Amino acid sequence: MISVLIIEDDAEICELLMEQLTRCNYLTVCRSCGSDALHWLETNTPSLMVLNYSLPDMNGKEFITQLRETHELIPPFIIAAEQGNEKIAVEMMKLGAKDYITRDRAFLDLLPEVIKHIEKEISSEGKLKLAREQLWQSRKMEAIAKLARRMAHDFNNILTGILGASCVLQKRMTEDKEAQDFLKIIIESSERAADLTAKLLVFGGEGESPATPVDLHQMITDTAALLERRISKKISIQCECNAIQQTIPGDCTLLQSALLNMGINADQAMDSGGTLTYATQNIFLDETLCNESSFDIKPGTYLQITVRDTGTGITPENLRKIFVPFYTTRTESEGRGLGLSTVYGTVKQHHGSITVQSKVGSGTSFYVHLPIAE
Ligand SMILES: Nc1ncnc2c1ncn2[C@@H]1O[C@H](COP(=O)(O)OP(=O)(O)O)[C@@H](O)[C@H]1O
Ligand SMILES: [Mg+2]
Repeated sequence: MISVLIIEDDAEICELLMEQLTRCNYLTVCRSCGSDALHWLETNTPSLMVLNYSLPDMNGKEFITQLRETHELIPPFIIAAEQGNEKIAVEMMKLGAKDYITRDRAFLDLLPEVIKHIEKEISSEGKLKLAREQLWQSRKMEAIAKLARRMAHDFNNILTGILGASCVLQKRMTEDKEAQDFLKIIIESSERAADLTAKLLVFGGEGESPATPVDLHQMITDTAALLERRISKKISIQCECNAIQQTIPGDCTLLQSALLNMGINADQAMDSGGTLTYATQNIFLDETLCNESSFDIKPGTYLQITVRDTGTGITPENLRKIFVPFYTTRTESEGRGLGLSTVYGTVKQHHGSITVQSKVGSGTSFYVHLPIAE
């Protein structure tokens, strides 16, 4: 559906425009000044903007210039200005306006026509932008995965040496109590480091996981029970297991840990209580959906697992980073930023996909798609 942001300080015109465009099946939002609209655009991307050139706090040119300072790509826009100002029209078309419309009596009737005229262009531009963004995201993640794999391998080799030598020393120096204490520290630290590199290897998507049949409904019930014991009483956990085919070929340990990781994150996002929901359903992902995904997935029947919370939500800026290893907004004692990167690696190893939707102040939903073997 095409969404239109109307930036217009005349409340009456705004209301009429919204009525008119809603009638034509467009989704509309109105902002009455430039700064409000800029603020709204920090977290939203409309398909199109209708911009009154003379706003109370800035003019159209200033608005577009400010928007370009923070956005690499700005939504297409139509400029609305008082009659007889061709200079403005030329200036704004040079700045990328799709069209120019005079704010006279015909304005209200004309606007839907103008939008209809450029509708095709808007939606193909949107698709292109999405494809570019997805390509960039997947290339970035692939590069980080390569680096993580390489580093984890090298560290593993080093750690094997440290751990091996420490164990030999531990056996030899049985008399020396102080040396034993130091060796214990070395061994425990190396084991923690090995655990970290193991997580990086999962993110790097190293190797194929064992594919044993995993009953995801049972796993969700177990995860919910585990979390119920661990997390605060103010949070209610709900399971809505609606899938008919709930068994997939997979790695039990990795999948369990992914469900737990997302549940713990949800808990951490709901300090003052809320609801954590695990839901499943079977869906068919067709060729178009698979092509649009930034994951390498094939058309077929999938088990969709939704992990939804009613917590703080994530800003669009942070949403781009959450799967990157070591990205965290927590203090060092609370988290290491490896939870979601291992979830990402797990999903990739299972030839699936993961997407997120989040709204600041309302909550976050993760959608995991895992293929069901035919
Ligand atoms: N459900 C959620 N709600 C809000 N923010 C989240 C949620 N899940 C993840 N995040 C954000 O993503 C970051 C990375 O998560 P994660 O990889 O699990 O690492 P960690 O939990 O150690 O910080 C978190 O620090 C948090 O900012
Ligand atoms: Mg976490």
